[in-house]
Amino acid sequence: MHKIYDFIIETVTTMAQEDVFKKVVAHCKEYGFVFPSSDIYDGLGAVYDYGQMGVELKNNIKNYWWQSMVLLNDNIVGIDSAIFMHPTIWKASGHVDAFNDPLIDNRDSKKRYRADVLIEEQIAKYEEKMEKEAAKAAKRFGDSFNKELFMETNPKVLAEKAKRDALQERFAKALNAMDLEELRQIIIDEEIVCPISGTRNWTEVRQFNLMFSTEMGSTADGAMKVYLRPETAQGIFVNYLNVQKTGRMRIPFGIAQIGKAFRNEIVARQFIFRMREFEQMEMQFFVRPGSELEWFGKWKETRLAWHKALGFGDESYRYHDHEKLAHYANAATDIEFKMPFGFKEVEGIHSRTNFDLSQHEKYSGKNIKYFDPETNESYTPYVIETSIGVDRMFLSVMCASYCEETLENGESRVVLRLPSALAPVKLAVLPLVKKDGLPEKAREIMNSLKFNFNCYYEEKDSIGKRYRRMDAIGTPYCVTVDHQTLEDGMVTLRERDTMEQRRVPIADLRSIIQDNVSITSLLQKLV
Ligand code: GAP
Repeated sequence: MHKIYDFIIETVTTMAQEDVFKKVVAHCKEYGFVFPSSDIYDGLGAVYDYGQMGVELKNNIKNYWWQSMVLLNDNIVGIDSAIFMHPTIWKASGHVDAFNDPLIDNRDSKKRYRADVLIEEQIAKYEEKMEKEAAKAAKRFGDSFNKELFMETNPKVLAEKAKRDALQERFAKALNAMDLEELRQIIIDEEIVCPISGTRNWTEVRQFNLMFSTEMGSTADGAMKVYLRPETAQGIFVNYLNVQKTGRMRIPFGIAQIGKAFRNEIVARQFIFRMREFEQMEMQFFVRPGSELEWFGKWKETRLAWHKALGFGDESYRYHDHEKLAHYANAATDIEFKMPFGFKEVEGIHSRTNFDLSQHEKYSGKNIKYFDPETNESYTPYVIETSIGVDRMFLSVMCASYCEETLENGESRVVLRLPSALAPVKLAVLPLVKKDGLPEKAREIMNSLKFNFNCYYEEKDSIGKRYRRMDAIGTPYCVTVDHQTLEDGMVTLRERDTMEQRRVPIADLRSIIQDNVSITSLLQKLV
């Protein structure tokens, strides 16, 4: 039997992007994905908790990353270093002296902003204007519209582009030189106003260090100021030789780590996009000096393929190659994802030369060079870093999966079209009614499958309502147990995306579902 009960007649694509974002944030709270931290105390700025569904999705994202690094590469191993580290590490890495944001206050609203963010938003405004011109022309010309040609020749677009380019150049110069006066002057010249007060009554620009610190040990013992790590990478650098020696690793090799990082972000907006406590998945790949750019190219491709394997569409991603590089890097790119608020960085890939290891050698006074048995030389390895934020990845997955549909019967449904391997719940087992032995049969099915994947049992409300709740948390499969099941051992299996329903033997459920919901199904796309 092959039956389709509901038909999708429209996927709502006309929603304004800011509405999509608002809906995703509300959905995260309503369905147990993400809650504001300390909610009953009215929250704590830019700190969030993951709920019962969120933690499962987050763990699946982490597993996908971890396995793609550690299982698929026999020269990559993992570690889990402590959050607290010797404070000199942060001196050596440059974070004590240079991990700063330029801040500016508006005297009227008393609100504080990052000067660089205000300017970046102004650059984005010029780009929006260019896109608006193109959208208007596309409507006018229809199918014959050539966007590329239009963007290169239309006088209005070219005027906006010239303003954008000039601003970008001036901004990059000021930022590189950390010329705070010039940053302020740009804000004044561009007539940027405070979004709250609407005025241009700006203070000077000041530097603000983003690291949180605390005291370790009691004051009587002479307490030591320690920092909450602002990145997990330094835990890898200071352990690289321990891992290399005990793991008998040979260059090229990598060390992967997932863990919390902390930054006292000033502009903490856009939900879990910029948080004060967040999680990173970082991998440092140690290579021979001179081979780093080749490896940089390889990791750039490998990481983009990892993102694309999720199936959200290649057009959702782009590289942003850095033209201006940090003094220690000789190549850097971001993988950006099309969030509802524009293309934004989700992952950074950096060729960090031997800067960090050399600094630790200098500050610790220890020889941490690698002896290469192939060349009989000792040297400080060069490092390619891939660094992705778990929470940003989570947000990108939620935004790409959130979908509103109108069904044939006039009802609408909200469905999270999560990649099945990431879905918090893989299978919902639903007895049609709460009596006649159906709950017992459903429990029996749950008990036989719960060792293989995450199952969820629900008997409350009509079957339609239960399907909708499962759609809303992204459950790829539901099975309904009915009176017929007791006689023939068959259940109705419903698929989330198509809403297709078919009768299948209970004995076949594991083999039908397991392969489609396992992380392996994603990993196989990468090899
Ligand atoms: N070790 C290199 C490093 O930390 P980064 O570009 O500062 O580089 C890497 O951070 C990634 O960490 C970013 O691409 C982003 O996904 C994530 N990230 C950084 N700051 C964050 C914040 N305040 N909230 C959430 N995620 C953040």
